[in-house]
Amino acid sequence: MVELKTRAEIASIREAGRFVASVLTSVREQARIGMTLLDLDAIAHQMIDDAGARSVYLGYHPSFGAIPYPGVLCTSVNDAALHGLPSPYVLADGDLLSIDFAAEVNGWVADSAVSFQVGTPSAEATRLIRTTEKALAAGIAAARPGNHMGDISAAIGAVGRGAKLGINADFGGHGVGRTMHEEPHVPNLGSPGRGLHLRPGLVIAIEPWFMAGTDEYVFDPDGWTIRSADGSLTAHAEHTIAITEDGPVILTLP
Ligand code: MF3
Ligand code: CO
Repeated sequence: MVELKTRAEIASIREAGRFVASVLTSVREQARIGMTLLDLDAIAHQMIDDAGARSVYLGYHPSFGAIPYPGVLCTSVNDAALHGLPSPYVLADGDLLSIDFAAEVNGWVADSAVSFQVGTPSAEATRLIRTTEKALAAGIAAARPGNHMGDISAAIGAVGRGAKLGINADFGGHGVGRTMHEEPHVPNLGSPGRGLHLRPGLVIAIEPWFMAGTDEYVFDPDGWTIRSADGSLTAHAEHTIAITEDGPVILTLP
């Protein structure tokens, strides 16, 4: 069932979104060559504790995970696109890092992700990240009353395909609010005018992720980390947004 949220509920999700954005900003500012992915997870964990928030990742155990999720962040480096486990991996110059973070504040959940480079940027990674951000912006712009889910999906897909990037629609966006994953599914490929009718009160996470060289992914043996099948670079960007009478409102901004 797709639940529409009230204005007051959307304001509460906005509060959670503000916190989520502050954690992503801090982790991004502190990420450096020589730090481990576990160091980044510890920064976010401390902020959760200080804020009296709750992690919705820690202990999360969907059917595909070999173990319950062991961290509060997803830390995906280079060819890792989604659900990269925080590990002792040491960040190196030029790494493309995607950080995905969701948390619950006063009973409401927001979810957001950002990709950036550590140390010396490369032209290829910069283009991939920019294109992913453009796809997120295009998906958000299509999230207005009167449109359909397919308009969001098609907008994302058109940006990715226009840049000749690989897209796999098995994992995409989702409803969010009372829990991290609610209906509806928000695919990263689709047809304009098709699918769910978008209405005010719908709160969704929109999350394009692209692979530079392929549409196919592989899982690590940990059952979590999703990598491009050809080892090519990947990027991910995500915001939680509310659809209102006046159009989309981003809830995961500082
Ligand atoms: N935040 C991710 C998403 O956008 C899911 C993270 S999976 C978890 O759907 F296990 F890390 F929680
Ligand atoms: Co999400």
